[in-house]
Amino acid sequence: MEKITSLAKRRGFVFQSSEIYGGQNGAWDYGPLGIELKNRIAGAWWKEMTRLHDNIAGLDAAILMHPRVWEASGHVENFTDPLVDCKKCKLRFRADMIPEENLAAKKCPDCGGELTDTRKFNLMFKSHIGPAEDTASVIYLRPETAQGIYVNYKNIIQSNRMKIPFGIAQIGKAFRNEIVTKNFIFRTCEFEQMEMQYFVKPGADEEWFNEWRKQRWAYYEKLGVKMDHLRWHQHGKDELAHYAKDAYDIEYLFPMGWRELEGVHNRTDYDLRRHAQFSGKDMQYIDQDAGNERYIPYIIETSAGLTRNVLMILCDAYDEEQVAEKSASSEGGADDWRTVLRFHPDLAPVTAAILPLMKKDGLAEMAQDIRNELQDDYSTDYDQSGAIGRRYRRQDEAGTPFCITVDYQSKDDNTVTLRFRDSMEQVRVPRSELAARLKQEIKGYKRIK
Ligand code: GAP
Repeated sequence: MEKITSLAKRRGFVFQSSEIYGGQNGAWDYGPLGIELKNRIAGAWWKEMTRLHDNIAGLDAAILMHPRVWEASGHVENFTDPLVDCKKCKLRFRADMIPEENLAAKKCPDCGGELTDTRKFNLMFKSHIGPAEDTASVIYLRPETAQGIYVNYKNIIQSNRMKIPFGIAQIGKAFRNEIVTKNFIFRTCEFEQMEMQYFVKPGADEEWFNEWRKQRWAYYEKLGVKMDHLRWHQHGKDELAHYAKDAYDIEYLFPMGWRELEGVHNRTDYDLRRHAQFSGKDMQYIDQDAGNERYIPYIIETSAGLTRNVLMILCDAYDEEQVAEKSASSEGGADDWRTVLRFHPDLAPVTAAILPLMKKDGLAEMAQDIRNELQDDYSTDYDQSGAIGRRYRRQDEAGTPFCITVDYQSKDDNTVTLRFRDSMEQVRVPRSELAARLKQEIKGYKRIK
């Protein structure tokens, strides 16, 4: 994880928030490559969940919601972590994350000092809206995006004439006052979620639950994630959230071990029933195709962390490789090692880097021309400084799948070198065929390592 954190900073994927002030715990800033990667991951999810489904609509609800939402959802009462403090070293722990024997003996796992009693700590960030800081002005930063979907479900049925089963998808920020925020961007106080809520007829919930488990698993396969680094974890009775009848996590093998990446939850009719009760509004669905039958739909939720997906994709793509064998040409000296991010080309922040072998003799101008031709369709980078081998290494570290090199032959016959990040192989391609070749390579991409 240290290597990934340091690469992320060095290459402008992720920076510590407010670093010049010593950093802000639980918050991170996404740099030029990081925001591109995050946007592409969000784009892939959005395409999968909305464009490829006729019956799933999008939404972007506000972060600030009426405080009654969080009473209805159960978050005010139940969204807590058990907390203990060490009276001696003042460290704070989640009681469910320290060994049971320490908890029973009230002994700090770090210094052996005495621990306080366990107390419940609500994870929602609380603030005040307006000038008065009284109970009437309390407002929360949303701890999940899901509730914005539930309170809009009737609006979307009406505006888009949705019929059950249907879904609503949303990507957005969520906030949790996490007690433990280590492991880089894995668990943070400010993060982003990609959630889809699927509204089904009661009784059809288990079938749809299984169907969505299948679809979410297939999604990661399509992204080219190492499938032996993914597994399912079913929540035991003691793990189930207050709203869930059944829940499975997709876990990824991060450098610190298997951890949750995404959850698929059967939330039953809990949320809509509670909103009906707290708002006084009718949350029933009227099934016009079944003699106006009325019912409160059950909800199957797929809930993935976007920022956690960024970390997963970084970990999954990270590789170090000795390149001595291939170093005869322009790829560096004998014991040369390279760090390479093997992103799927659909996710890579830069798709193609255009590199003139020399700045002079019109090569730079030709390379710029090629960049101008490609940049409407592809995210490109242009780099003319330093030895060509070093430039390839820089692009490998950024995860750029294709490098296009303009050399003296290019001037003679209008061909360029197309260099593949993963194999480091190079082929000559006529300039006129470059855009089509890139398209073909992206579509047919298969990870080789
Ligand atoms: N709406 C259901 C829900 O929020 P969750 O299991 O609490 O369920 C869903 O969160 C996903 O959101 C997790 O699988 C994880 O990827 C991401 N997530 C949750 N808390 C996070 C945090 N503090 N930092 C980063 N990602 C987080």
